[in-house]
Amino acid sequence: MIESNHIEIVVVGSLNMDLVVRSPHLPVPGETILGNSFATYEGGKGFNQAIAARRAGGQVAFVGKVGRDDFGDRLEEALKQEGILRQFVTRGENSTGIANVWVGEDGANKIIVVPGTNNEVTPKEIEAASELLSSAGVLLLQLEIPIATCTKAAQLVRRGGGRVLLTAAPVPIEPLPVELFEAVSLLMVNENEALQMAALLGMPIFKEGEEIEAGRSILTQVGSSLEAIVITLGSKGALWISSERVEHSEGFKVKAVDTTAAGDTFTGALAVGLQRGLPVPELLRFANAAGAISVTRKGAYPSIPYEAEIDRLHCLLN
Ligand code: RIB
Repeated sequence: MIESNHIEIVVVGSLNMDLVVRSPHLPVPGETILGNSFATYEGGKGFNQAIAARRAGGQVAFVGKVGRDDFGDRLEEALKQEGILRQFVTRGENSTGIANVWVGEDGANKIIVVPGTNNEVTPKEIEAASELLSSAGVLLLQLEIPIATCTKAAQLVRRGGGRVLLTAAPVPIEPLPVELFEAVSLLMVNENEALQMAALLGMPIFKEGEEIEAGRSILTQVGSSLEAIVITLGSKGALWISSERVEHSEGFKVKAVDTTAAGDTFTGALAVGLQRGLPVPELLRFANAAGAISVTRKGAYPSIPYEAEIDRLHCLLN
């Protein structure tokens, strides 16, 4: 039995069933192609981050919603099997969220999410979990649940002295509210999201390769409440951009089979590294190692590595 007073990392986020089709290439509009395989995996950015943090060695709790259906049962069972506190995972009125995931032979993916019950995670659910959130060391948020809910959770954790990591995906269509940004400690984005977030904040358009410039301007625009922006660069590793430093950590060389959840795995592991007090270069390397392992395996949930595997790769010289 997991006790809520031992929880270090809380995920307030999405639970999806991933409906995954693999095909030789990804179809263009109007094209019909034959795929190679179909599988369903438990997923959702929130779910993946929670599993990644748990398997990397963290004590994790989840706040979210599933439907009264088989997908909901599978997601709840997976959280239980992993030893994640699921006292604040409830059943909603809609169907469980799903993600239609297309994966090409090079491992790259395209994803459409239909949120279902993820849209029912309201500020009321946050009130119910307020004690847990106020004492959390790290909160992991993504944008697959309502933004008002993210804001309320972030404010509670920040007031309690914890850190808030916001994965800005899917990139919102409108700028995020100031109150949310003010409560965020680390903004987590991939290369594309960094450029899109900068554009969303009304900055000049940055091109591919200008992630550091984009990160710096976001930092200037958002203000001092933000500790850093962390940009994942796929096989090229990751960047930590703060007002004092830009740290680049090289990626590990691995063969990519499926990149789904690589960013989530990076973030979950990073949360554990933060709790352990790892210095930034080591923190990025630990998270990079976790993300790199995940791309060598198919699916979201089954691809997420355990602490011992991460440590083995992390300790190897590249
Ligand atoms: O980041 C990967 C995740 O995005 C998938 O598991 C899918 O559910 C979507 O939320």
